Amino acid sequence: MTSQTLREARKYEEASEKLIKAEERPGFHLTPRTGWMNDPNGFSYYKGRYHLFYQYYPYESRWGSMHWGHAVSQDLLHWESLPCALAPDEAYDRDGCFSGSAVELPDGRQLLMYTGVLKERQGHGGYREVQTQCLAVGDGLDYEKYEQNPVLDDTDLPEGSSRFDFRDPRIWKHTDGTYRCVVGSRPADGSGQILLYASGDGFHWKFKSVLVSNHDRFGKMWECPDFFELDGKWVLLTSPQDMLPEGFEYHNGNGTLCLIGDYDEETGTFKETHDQSIDYGIDFYATQTVLAPDGRRILIGWMQNWDACSMRSPEDPWMGQMSLPRELSVRDGRLYQKPVRELNAMRRNKISYTHVAVSGVVKLDGIRGRMVDMELRIRPEDQQNPYRKFAVRFAQNDRYYTSLSFRPQESILKIDRKFSGSRRAIIHQRRSLVKTADGELKLRIILDRFSVEVFVNDGEQVLTATMYTEQEADGISFFADGTAQIDVVTYDLQ
Ligand code: FRU
Repeated sequence: MTSQTLREARKYEEASEKLIKAEERPGFHLTPRTGWMNDPNGFSYYKGRYHLFYQYYPYESRWGSMHWGHAVSQDLLHWESLPCALAPDEAYDRDGCFSGSAVELPDGRQLLMYTGVLKERQGHGGYREVQTQCLAVGDGLDYEKYEQNPVLDDTDLPEGSSRFDFRDPRIWKHTDGTYRCVVGSRPADGSGQILLYASGDGFHWKFKSVLVSNHDRFGKMWECPDFFELDGKWVLLTSPQDMLPEGFEYHNGNGTLCLIGDYDEETGTFKETHDQSIDYGIDFYATQTVLAPDGRRILIGWMQNWDACSMRSPEDPWMGQMSLPRELSVRDGRLYQKPVRELNAMRRNKISYTHVAVSGVVKLDGIRGRMVDMELRIRPEDQQNPYRKFAVRFAQNDRYYTSLSFRPQESILKIDRKFSGSRRAIIHQRRSLVKTADGELKLRIILDRFSVEVFVNDGEQVLTATMYTEQEADGISFFADGTAQIDVVTYDLQ
């Protein structure tokens, strides 16, 4: 039975999406059908297709009462919109259906687990949002909320944990056919922790353990946890709020965190041996992974950061994009990310140059565009006399450009979208410490109309940024102070 609220949302999105032309959206990054999108939710492979739900407010391009938008894809790049899946229409979630995840039940139905939000009047007059975990069951199109919702509430929290910060359940099926989920939570110390719950059937849940505690090390509250085994290690991904910077590894504000370590199944505890950012660019937050049928662990994130949202205005027809899906691997205590290999099928018009000496500004015939896959290798022309700075500029015309610049002496790679038409005093630049092997830096740069994603040294690091520069700005140029030598291969992405 669909509620009035859900029917209205479905009707509204169907009518409004027609007002948005295909060219006004990215070519292969998912955007909301209409209005606002944040976190990826319920990323899953179900009935032969990838399903991706998302935090969604259809009525305006700003955050509002959260629904779940829904899209499906065969290749993770071409998405087909489905009707809005969840609306805030029950007594326990009337102020929002927050982030969550999906799993297939033995009877073939799909189980969604999400955070129900309910505003509660406080003694002093203000409101606070009480958060509980809820379920909905469906067939890949329509979902029915479970009549015994919520299935986890404040009575399932360890002593001292906040009932106002208890969200983003990530469910998965355990090897023995039972279920587990991790949920973000705020303990008494005011920072973050990840709680682990277990269930025999996916419907009845029990607290198992505190999987890992932040103790104020990486920001405060940890949002959107994900937890899985990969290449013989256990990986915990989360998005901490209120971070303080640490060298070039972590930046201020909302960030991303990957912990790699070991998991003790008996006690339900995780001990990390390595930590790193997931993305070193500007716009990336709230990740979620799916296990593909071929065994690949694929990550997607919200290609946006709360701290830079004012770049778009509520008048824009849509706000929020998903990142390119990335294949993950773990090597020597480090998370590697590569664009999904499905992207290779979109490559057209190969152009290749080798051993080009760049000194001053250089443009190369045929290299331009806003939907481009570029592989770039940069090294000094003369090892004894290395260049001081190299830059590649794109989304460029007489007025605008976005750039990546590299200073080999400091080994700093900087992404800069200051000249992308932004009229807001938000973050436009970010620097990252990168490695070179024998003086060579390797970049793969993916452009898709309104974004750039830079994969450094075969996925050792990624830098992501959005840019809403007018599409006429499609030039690409290279620059060096001193002389750099480059190999460059580009493809149009179609
Ligand atoms: C992360 C987040 C989640 C929450 C959702 C609400 O971006 O704050 O913790 O579930 O967004 O839209």
